[in-house]
Amino acid sequence: MNRQRGVALYQPSDADRKTKRKNRRALTEGGDYIERHQPDDALGDEPAPGQAEKRQHSLRRRLRLRVDTHRATTRILRVAYPFLAEGGLGANGTYIGSDVFSGGSFVYDPWVLYQAKVLTNPNILLAGVIGTGKSSTAKALITRSIALGRKAYVPCDPKGEWTAVAEAVGGVAIQLGPGLPNRLNPLDAGVRPASVAEEEWRRIVWSRRRALLGTLAESTLGRLMSSVEHTALDVALGTASRNDASPTLPDVVHALFQPDGNDVGLETDVLIADGRQVAHAIRRLVHGDLAGMFDGPSTTTFDPNAPMITLDSSRIGSAGNDHALRVALACASSWMEAVAADPSAGQRFIVYDEGWRVMRDPALLRRMQEQWKLSRAWGISNILIVHRLSDLAAVGDLGSEARALAEGLLADCSTRVMLRQEPDQLARTASLLGLTDVEIATIAKLPKGRALWRMPSRSFVVQLVRHAREADLFDTDGHM
Ligand SMILES: Nc1ncnc2c1ncn2[C@@H]1O[C@H](COP(=O)(O)OP(=O)(O)OP(=O)(O)O)[C@@H](O)[C@H]1O
Ligand SMILES: [Mg+2]
Repeated sequence: MNRQRGVALYQPSDADRKTKRKNRRALTEGGDYIERHQPDDALGDEPAPGQAEKRQHSLRRRLRLRVDTHRATTRILRVAYPFLAEGGLGANGTYIGSDVFSGGSFVYDPWVLYQAKVLTNPNILLAGVIGTGKSSTAKALITRSIALGRKAYVPCDPKGEWTAVAEAVGGVAIQLGPGLPNRLNPLDAGVRPASVAEEEWRRIVWSRRRALLGTLAESTLGRLMSSVEHTALDVALGTASRNDASPTLPDVVHALFQPDGNDVGLETDVLIADGRQVAHAIRRLVHGDLAGMFDGPSTTTFDPNAPMITLDSSRIGSAGNDHALRVALACASSWMEAVAADPSAGQRFIVYDEGWRVMRDPALLRRMQEQWKLSRAWGISNILIVHRLSDLAAVGDLGSEARALAEGLLADCSTRVMLRQEPDQLARTASLLGLTDVEIATIAKLPKGRALWRMPSRSFVVQLVRHAREADLFDTDGHM
């Protein structure tokens, strides 16, 4: 055995060489060679029962075929024997389960794999039929990653199923809903990171507040704001943030109805008329169906050291009316962004469970896309959970802005975890993800908890392995 540059080379012995030569001649000369080199009594005249007749060139022999032992590194073998001798993604990261084809462990970490250039961004898309284990897969990845120092924020939890998980890992679960005591001020500034100067921080906070107010207005109006409305909103935010305390949404609504035109040299009446529709749209959060949730100072502070923070939105909105849920998500994610945007806060997952329910809104999609684009700069891995990839197409007509934004989110997810898909979804899934026939056939038959993990140039079929305590904690079949 010889080792050169880490590759184990096989050096046959003299005896091996002789056997090899013999085998080669037996193959080229066939029966002639065997007859010449076998003792007469070894072959016998009559074929033994169940054995082939002895004939010239029959290429059959009594001696066992001997194949030389061959040894190589997994790097070479995984090409020679794809799936069976998979080299895996290394052992740096979080254990997810077993690689179904090779039997090895499957370990994943978006930040480690980004550094290893396996991934082009740390974002993850999870898709699968109802009840196939999408949330369980995300929960396993996140709870196990906490041991590695990662944190997780869940601004969108319409089923309230992350609350128990957050409590189990020592995190915070905030329940929001009509009549509940918790209230968040989405215009909270958050804590200034040590690395950001006072002046720059002021600008960051301003643009975050302004972006949120724009999203809320456009989402409720169902259209883009006009330029005069932008000006009215700018002036109102300026007025509301005049003193150093955090402005609240009622402050902004008040300033929209009673603006201070001197700030921009405009007549007050003109400003009131320009901002009227925006004022009514934002007022909905103060006096409408979301009253009491986002319309005053926060009742809880964001603990940047908590390993997990979830916002249980199960009491917001109703089936078929997801607008309130979308507005709540915009407010909640802005509140979380105040801390999430601090690059020194460590690496964090941001989970959009049941993401398909909030994606029908171009204003929110624009916001999500921005967050996706900033993921590398902020050290964030966004996890979007949908049922099928056609959820992304359902957000708008072909060629519409919403559709382009949603498909852009897919393009910005380097890791696509596909659980079982319905047969009618397979063709679309294959064309959007560029799957092979074998991968498509695999997706159609995946059992619960098993998924195709697709990365730019690697793919694995992985069975999620859960500890008994995790199985209890992640269970969502309780009501069944
Ligand atoms: N690997 C697994 N083995 C066995 N059961 C599993 C596995 N993964 C998930 N389950 C169970 O399947 C059920 C559904 O899982 P989960 O809630 O994760 O599915 P989902 O795809 O998120 O469903 P939904 O579409 O309704 O959100 C849970 O009760 C969970 O315990
Ligand atoms: Mg789920």
